Amino acid sequence: MIRVENVSKSFGSFKALDGLTLKAGEGTVLGLLGPNGSGKTTTVKILTTLLAPDSGDARVAGHSVLAAPDLVRRNLGLSGQYAAVDEKLTAFENLHMVGRLYGMNRRTASARASELLENFRLTDVATKRSGTFSGGMRRRLDLAGAIVARPKVVVLDEPTTGLDPRGRLDTWDVVSRLVADGTTVLLTTQYLEEADRLADNIAVINHGRVIAEGTAAELKQNAGTERIGVVMRHAADLPAAAAVLHAAAGPDVRPELDPQNLGVSIAAPQGHRTLVRILTELDAQALPVEEASLRRPTLDDVFLRLTGHATADSVTDAETEGVAA
Ligand SMILES: Nc1ncnc2c1ncn2[C@@H]1O[C@H](COP(=O)(O)OP(=O)(O)O)[C@@H](O)[C@H]1O
Ligand SMILES: [Mg+2]
Repeated sequence: MIRVENVSKSFGSFKALDGLTLKAGEGTVLGLLGPNGSGKTTTVKILTTLLAPDSGDARVAGHSVLAAPDLVRRNLGLSGQYAAVDEKLTAFENLHMVGRLYGMNRRTASARASELLENFRLTDVATKRSGTFSGGMRRRLDLAGAIVARPKVVVLDEPTTGLDPRGRLDTWDVVSRLVADGTTVLLTTQYLEEADRLADNIAVINHGRVIAEGTAAELKQNAGTERIGVVMRHAADLPAAAAVLHAAAGPDVRPELDPQNLGVSIAAPQGHRTLVRILTELDAQALPVEEASLRRPTLDDVFLRLTGHATADSVTDAETEGVAA
């Protein structure tokens, strides 16, 4: 449904997109994840025919943005980074107008507007001027506008940036519902949690090119191995505990001590099994443990490792050890 084929785009001498390639199958969500300035909006503009690529091509529902921009637009709904609603119109009027622009008759446009207001929990404010709406309500109205004509493909550029947690959950709900209806969604985001939650496939981009792609699980798996940590009751037991961890995890990895917190940790590829062995052995040696943990790599780890940037909402306790690509 969506294909971006080796697209490059420069602004003056600055290369915003550098051979970008993406694809998304019908009824799936492709998450385009990248830090600020990585080329997300430029990609969206090219897919939506607002900007022409310097080289390469992009296709929506099989139609080329270069050869058949009209057909691309007919199959596409766009919701931009900044909500595009007419503030002078009511919620109903906004959606009705979009329906009319897409060639629906009055009755069909009215019915569709009412249906969407209901789906997006805007029925109560249907006759209120949208200029009075909160950011979250405006964003919902904008999303509703993007799907008035039931496009096959919907492109959402940072749909939850600037929203409060409630607004974010609402938007996630809307996206899930779109996909359940068979719509294909390209969603750009700086939020890993959002990509993790919504996207079937994720492309991580930086400097206008894809630096990693796959499902959230695949990306996490490649981010490095799991890590086991234990916190001991007695500081005096730390060296013995470190030896136990080392023996269990294997000779290739070294334990890391955190004497201040009475902690010792180690990378362990076979996390579960290794953790069981470690706890059994500590118990056998009568070394009391306060806490034990098995930490999976998160998407934050992936992002940090790939881009050298922490993300907008990342927990910045990511391990930096052993992350050289
Ligand atoms: N019209 C433009 N003129 C000059 N530079 C631009 C223009 N549009 C985008 N850029 C630059 O291209 C890069 C990518 O921008 P953009 O696609 O908006 O990134 P993102 O949406 O990921 O934050 C940025 O460095 C931005 O400054
Ligand atoms: Mg952007």
